[in-house]
Amino acid sequence: MKAIIYRDNGGPDVLRLVERDRPTPGPGAVRVRVAVSGVNPTDWQARSGVGHQKRFPEITPHHDGAGVIDAVGAGVDAGRVGQRVWLFMAAAGRPTGTAAELTIVPADQAVPLPDEVSFDAGASLGVPALTAHRALTVAEDGPPRLHPGALAGRTVLAAGGAGAVGHAVIQLARWAGATVITTVSGPRKAKLATAAGAHHVINYRAADPAAAIRAVAPDGVDIITEVALGANLALDLAVLRTRGTVATYANEGGQPVELNVGQNMVLNTRLQFLVLYTAGRQARTAAVEDVTAAVSDGALPVGEEHGLPLVRFPLDRTADAHRAVQTGTVGKVLVDCAERDSTLPRASGPGSGPLWTPTA
Ligand SMILES: NC(=O)c1ccc[n+]([C@@H]2O[C@H](COP(=O)([O-])OP(=O)(O)OC[C@H]3O[C@@H](n4cnc5c(N)ncnc54)[C@H](OP(=O)(O)O)[C@@H]3O)[C@@H](O)[C@H]2O)c1
Repeated sequence: MKAIIYRDNGGPDVLRLVERDRPTPGPGAVRVRVAVSGVNPTDWQARSGVGHQKRFPEITPHHDGAGVIDAVGAGVDAGRVGQRVWLFMAAAGRPTGTAAELTIVPADQAVPLPDEVSFDAGASLGVPALTAHRALTVAEDGPPRLHPGALAGRTVLAAGGAGAVGHAVIQLARWAGATVITTVSGPRKAKLATAAGAHHVINYRAADPAAAIRAVAPDGVDIITEVALGANLALDLAVLRTRGTVATYANEGGQPVELNVGQNMVLNTRLQFLVLYTAGRQARTAAVEDVTAAVSDGALPVGEEHGLPLVRFPLDRTADAHRAVQTGTVGKVLVDCAERDSTLPRASGPGSGPLWTPTA
């Protein structure tokens, strides 16, 4: 089978396409024929060595993907062979990610994908959707879980609504019944955030974004999902309601964070940091269950018309896929791991789209 590997940390050029033996799933694991692999910033960060320690001599990158189970290890229901699945955290603490024709994951990290949902959508879930779920479920007043109505009466501000995580925040928050405000840097991203389902889209580079947010949320915002805390903290505190939550999953731009303790005391701010790797099994299980329910409801579609353009590469151009993510390409970067004429069962419903769209 073909696989992408790297042996040393470094730039995208450390990624190589190689032939490897078909892997055999051990106890509790499944083997998946990967149709589409999803690329996230954490994948190139791990490859480069930034903030990640390399633990294996040879690594196949990428946590996210979608495909079909073609073999199971001991203790796994043999009836799962042939099941369409989406994969998450495939390369976390393991050397075999999804940038390969076949991968091995623990059975609970291969989640059933409804027939009508495309592999593209399945490969786009993992890191973005699970992060978005965590960010929306850490507020003091809850909800601890997401379902239709869980965020009814609440206002969510998704910073950077045209990013992969921001997009998932908008979709999950809408599904859960929130009023959703989002910030973007310009008109193209505003169009995408609107297509994703945001009720109000604010240009954070415009004159007074706080006033624009207060105009649509006079009582303040309940939950802010933050991608650039240093750049946005002043704006966040200007629009947060008393006892509101700022759930921070990144600090894009790297601007330092300076806290005004008194201001935060008066607001009773909850400042919650989060990273998927250490969120814990309970939070992860809850996120997978709720995201699965949202997917089944058709709430997490992808593609330009749904606010998340797909930018795709063949497996042998995975290095270019990494360059695309690293340079901030708008949309979701995907790698096709199976040939276009593959026998893998595709989605049956609308939105499955062509396997190969040469947009990259
Ligand atoms: N903690 C975790 O577990 C976790 C999980 C997933 C991702 N992350 C991190 O989260 C970040 C985003 O990931 P992603 O996959 O969503 O990347 P992405 O698709 O490239 O999106 C990044 C978004 O951030 C927005 N942004 C940058 N500066 C901003 C600002 N000052 N205000 C508002 N928006 C701003 C950009 O929009 P504009 O160009 O319009 O500014 C862009 O849409 C990365 O740093 C990633 O490593 C962390």
